[in-house]
Amino acid sequence: MDSTHQQHVNWFRASSPYIHSHRGKTLVLLISGEAIEHSGFANLIHDIALLNSLGVRLVLVHGARPQIEQQLTNLNLTSTFNQGHRITDLSILQAVEQAVGQVRLNIETHLSRGLINTPMSGAALRVISGNFVTAKPYGIHDGIDYCHTGEVRKIDREAIRQQLELNNIVLLSPIGYSPSGEAFNCRAEDIATRTAIALGADKLIFMMDATAINDKNGKPVQQLNIAQCEELIKQNTNSEICQLHLTSALNGCKNGVRRSHIISHNIDGSLLLELYTRDGNGTLVTAETYEGLREATIDDVGGILELIEPLENKSILTRRSREQLELEIKQFTVIERDGMIIACAALYPYENNIAEIACLAVAEDYRHQGRGEELLNNIQQQCSKTGIDKLFLLTTRTAHWFQERGFAESDISKLPLKKQQLYNTQRNSKVFIKPLT
Ligand SMILES: CC(C)(COP(=O)(O)OP(=O)(O)OC[C@H]1O[C@@H](n2cnc3c(N)ncnc32)[C@H](O)[C@@H]1OP(=O)(O)O)[C@@H](O)C(=O)NCCC(=O)NCCS
Repeated sequence: MDSTHQQHVNWFRASSPYIHSHRGKTLVLLISGEAIEHSGFANLIHDIALLNSLGVRLVLVHGARPQIEQQLTNLNLTSTFNQGHRITDLSILQAVEQAVGQVRLNIETHLSRGLINTPMSGAALRVISGNFVTAKPYGIHDGIDYCHTGEVRKIDREAIRQQLELNNIVLLSPIGYSPSGEAFNCRAEDIATRTAIALGADKLIFMMDATAINDKNGKPVQQLNIAQCEELIKQNTNSEICQLHLTSALNGCKNGVRRSHIISHNIDGSLLLELYTRDGNGTLVTAETYEGLREATIDDVGGILELIEPLENKSILTRRSREQLELEIKQFTVIERDGMIIACAALYPYENNIAEIACLAVAEDYRHQGRGEELLNNIQQQCSKTGIDKLFLLTTRTAHWFQERGFAESDISKLPLKKQQLYNTQRNSKVFIKPLT
């Protein structure tokens, strides 16, 4: 087998778990007007056809900004934007309807083409458009009437679901209809986000013009949890349209969408790369929480202090000043959850292969889920790696917790001399020791 064949086999094998996990999942994909104009649009259509044939339930929402601009120019009209919203009077609305109608036809035509001479030749796709979006007027803000600019009032979730059940692709345009029989020019981002929320979609994907979402140092961002996404939006270092995608992605994740992705239409196959490879190529915003155990760093001092102070005030833990904590930070292990320190423990080695576990604490809301034990196990592993064969601790109120984990009550005289000299007789803590061999 030559190397190209081998690469192909490897790629196919590597993507199979993703094929399996995306089958039957609902995906809402926003295709910007710019992506439709782009030379890679035909490839994007093939990729959409491929997703459909792999059993992904697809809702496409299209934008039409450049096409609307072109139509306005053709008609010698100009429109104004205020706070990111176009002011849509009746003449502008007519231009919007014409442009949006053409874009919709263009997409439907591409999807209906039979995909001759393409990897998806022979695949028949059914695309359904309809009055799935109910809109209301955006209204008057600071005295400015936005006329036929609208916002989403309701998404007809059941009607969309029925179409998805039939394996049809649902195509939504950035226009909504009011029960009073008017059409409203809505933001495609809002329609995509509200649809994903209404359907409880597994994925909400924005295709953008920019190549990447960057952090404040200009580096592409691969993954953000909710708190990190909020922080990045606050920093306001990305373009206005990227900010809008980030805000929409965040809004989706905060309201039940599992994962939002922001990818670039400038990268050929970005949709497939994002869905069927491990690292993807865009920015993932996820509502899933990140939790991990690791060595503490100097940046954790504030978080640890916040965690242990209430326990120090109750005399459950001995008091440590910020300076002392800064000096001893290398002794600490922490559990971080979404950027917050929720548990910590410290290990102090002494001569003769004995060490002390101290300052073990789990934040109150996170107790009774095995985190205390996880930290203790990790500390014990650290001991065995460094040849420590006895672990001791002093406690006033947590004796039974340690006893149940193999510690036996002992005597002050069994402690290292240095520790004996520091023993605080007022605290009258009990001594526990566990042999680790
Ligand atoms: C002790 C502590 C670290 C355990 O954290 P945790 O993540 O809840 O621990 P785990 O989930 O592994 O274990 C929970 C079990 O420990 C028990 N437990 C908690 N505190 C206890 C105590 N003081 N004495 C005896 N058992 C205790 C719980 O009842 C639970 O048992 P159960 O499941 O049978 O009900 C946590 O309760 C804590 O931070 N306490 C305050 C600080 C402290 O006492 N630190 C020790 C200083 S020496």
